[in-house]
Amino acid sequence: MSFDLARVRAEFPVLAREVNGQPLAYLDSAASAQKPQGVIDAESHFYQHGYAAVHRGIHTLSAEATTEMENVRTQAAAFLNAASPEEIVFVKGTTEAINLVASSWGGSQLQAGDNIIITEMEHHANIVPWQMVAERVGAEVRFIPLTETGELDLSALPGLIDSRTRMLAVTQVSNVLGTVNPVKEIVAQAKAAGVATLVDGAQAVMHQQVDVQDLGCDFYAFSGHKIYGPSGIGILYGRKAMLDKMPPWEGGGSMIATVSLTEGTTYAAAPWRFEAGSPNTGGIMGLGAALAWVTEQGLDVIHQREQTLMRYALDKLASVPDLTIYGPQARAGVIAFNLGQHHAYDVGSFLDQYGIAIRTGHHCAMPLMHHYGVPAMCRASFVLYNSEEEADRLAAGLTRIHRLLG
Ligand SMILES: Cc1ncc(COP(=O)(O)O)c(C=O)c1O
Repeated sequence: MSFDLARVRAEFPVLAREVNGQPLAYLDSAASAQKPQGVIDAESHFYQHGYAAVHRGIHTLSAEATTEMENVRTQAAAFLNAASPEEIVFVKGTTEAINLVASSWGGSQLQAGDNIIITEMEHHANIVPWQMVAERVGAEVRFIPLTETGELDLSALPGLIDSRTRMLAVTQVSNVLGTVNPVKEIVAQAKAAGVATLVDGAQAVMHQQVDVQDLGCDFYAFSGHKIYGPSGIGILYGRKAMLDKMPPWEGGGSMIATVSLTEGTTYAAAPWRFEAGSPNTGGIMGLGAALAWVTEQGLDVIHQREQTLMRYALDKLASVPDLTIYGPQARAGVIAFNLGQHHAYDVGSFLDQYGIAIRTGHHCAMPLMHHYGVPAMCRASFVLYNSEEEADRLAAGLTRIHRLLG
């Protein structure tokens, strides 16, 4: 089946917008993707026709909303090929998912003298929660360094894992470099040493098929808003055996079995034990629609199309004078660069004048900026709805800025 870009673009209303008198070229989807009409409609349909508080209601609307929410849990389990819906926890996003694991699993399993391994290319969301729990319990955070080409130097891994290593947490795709890490092999090495594993899938799930059982990881996290879904909703996958032994991390309604002022509280089973309070039900309905949309497009089709576009964009950008591109040739989703010595903010502001939206800054990856010795980078991201024409405009815009600024 041939790929119909015009059809895909037509499903995203915002792409018809003009910005600064130019057609919008939205190249910031790695920060947050735009939403197809079906996702917007699903959320709005829920508020118009089916909204009610879930879980505690006996009335029809509440029962329906609860069923729909649990259906999305089942859908998310199928999307990741989890063994059961009970391995799916609704969270706000990747950040909350990792904080949940660091706090609940880490807080209960880590002891002074233990260590956690992360990598030099992690987003702050997969660094700071580990540092926080490590500080609390007296553990150490180690990291796998990067090679010159922006890949993980896995030759360092055997030297980092020792008898006190408890967790290895790694991103599947770098949000800055687009590096696709061999997480299956990394997880296998960790498992062989009895180390738990978490994969940050925030930049992966929208580009490739993910199978958590095949990866073999204990935890997997992603955010709805980066996979064409709403903000404020995401998924934590946790292997049942892991979730079952983890204590709750937040207390309140919906996560209890019984509460007594004199005899204390008993907790609900996982995953509900980790979902205190009223959930983001509208977001959950939108996430269900987003996962359905991605599945309908076909992750194989998405992967192939994005790879074609990525090669095209890299080729175009090669003609821009004085452009430094960071990261390996083979990549998913993003191209990070700097133009001469110009600060990324200046470059981003100029591009905005041409209607081109990119991200600039440290990309919540300060250790990675440090590795390259730069304070900031520009990052253009390419997803299913982006076009060759937008890549042309990016290259032309950068060439023009180079001419203007020198
Ligand atoms: C690799 C990676 N991990 C984690 C996050 C955090 O995601 P969220 O802000 O949706 O929790 C991001 C967001 O940019 C990311 O790119």
